[in-house]
Amino acid sequence: MSQRVNGVISRAKGAPVEVTTIIVPDPGPGEAVVKIQACGVCHTDLHYREGGINDDYPFLLGHEAAGVVESVGAGVTEVAPGDFVVLNWRAVCGECRACKKGKPWYCFATHNATQKMTLEDGTELSPALGIGAFIEKTLVAAGQCTKVDPQARPAAVGLLGCGVMAGIGAAINTGGVTRGDSVAVIGCGGVGDGAVAGAALAGATTIIAIDTDDRKLEWARGFGATHTINARGADVVSAVQELTGGFGADVVIEAVGRPETYKQAFYARDLAGTVVLVGVPTPEMTIELPLADVFGRGGALKSSWYGDCLPTRDFPMLTELYRQGRLDLDKFVTEEIRLDQVEEAFAKMHSGDVLRSVVIF
Ligand SMILES: NC(=O)c1ccc[n+]([C@@H]2O[C@H](COP(=O)([O-])OP(=O)(O)OC[C@H]3O[C@@H](n4cnc5c(N)ncnc54)[C@H](O)[C@@H]3O)[C@@H](O)[C@H]2O)c1
Ligand SMILES: [Zn+2]
Ligand SMILES: [Zn+2]
Repeated sequence: MSQRVNGVISRAKGAPVEVTTIIVPDPGPGEAVVKIQACGVCHTDLHYREGGINDDYPFLLGHEAAGVVESVGAGVTEVAPGDFVVLNWRAVCGECRACKKGKPWYCFATHNATQKMTLEDGTELSPALGIGAFIEKTLVAAGQCTKVDPQARPAAVGLLGCGVMAGIGAAINTGGVTRGDSVAVIGCGGVGDGAVAGAALAGATTIIAIDTDDRKLEWARGFGATHTINARGADVVSAVQELTGGFGADVVIEAVGRPETYKQAFYARDLAGTVVLVGVPTPEMTIELPLADVFGRGGALKSSWYGDCLPTRDFPMLTELYRQGRLDLDKFVTEEIRLDQVEEAFAKMHSGDVLRSVVIF
């Protein structure tokens, strides 16, 4: 058996996305079908549409989602129909070399649904980040469903499924930000503002937000930035140094994904400081740095996949901080849109009009 529902696909490189009919199989062993309530528009969806991730078109886009489990397949014990869940793209396997080392947030064999969702003509879809959630109902591995407080607003907690979690985790998990640290965040979209909020939660005393758009800087202040720098026409490195006693920040988080901003991050950190790359570069990008500087500046150059999060640990915890008013997830939701407005949301993302547009079902 299967169901026919509406979903948003990207058919070819650069072509506008479209709403079309998608066939969703009933859940098989270890799988679940989730009725989506809300799904945020992340820059990674746009990367997929532009061919920046891979060429496995057609893609079923959307991956920052919350919803209710509709049905589960054989052997599923972690969730049941009716559970309110946030979808994750890190359903850890428990068996790979990372999991065996006790570092499941690096899991190299995360679970996705085994069956494929298809177009009406049988063409198999590649779901974005193994999820695919700009769709009324989606098929995922049961482990991709993380139960959270059902009182929470779907549009807000769904964002924990990707960008906001990636940002918070880049600060707290990957960057190890702690009380008294100075932190600079380059690029203040949903991911960068997640990093600002994470740095604030962790007790950083100086939080410098850097963007090319003044509206983004204003929003970043709302998440806890203590200083802002408009990168347009500014020397970002010396501006960060000026705000940190001439030294640079303890942790610099790059949330754009470009060589020039990575270089700024590299030089804007203090000696022995940490750079965290959470922005996603495209395959053709390269970077050249004096090896003597890589050595001489010491510290750590890290990348953050999904904020090194563990969904079972982090989603309920952050949902609880949201409930307590200590993490304002609502502020990430700039607008609620319909399924047929994803292409417009990409344009708004490009022009800087939104932090997150969230599709509501
Ligand atoms: N590592 C992960 O697990 C993960 C998860 C989600 C998203 N991402 C990536 O993070 C990046 C940001 O995603 P987003 O959804 O926040 O995107 P976004 O488009 O909402 O935000 C990007 C921000 O960067 C700013 N910017 C652009 N050029 C700049 C420059 N030269 N200097 C300073 N700021 C600049 C833009 O004005 C914008 O505010 C993307 O590359 C996305 O693919 C990574
Ligand atoms: Zn694993
Ligand atoms: Zn994302």
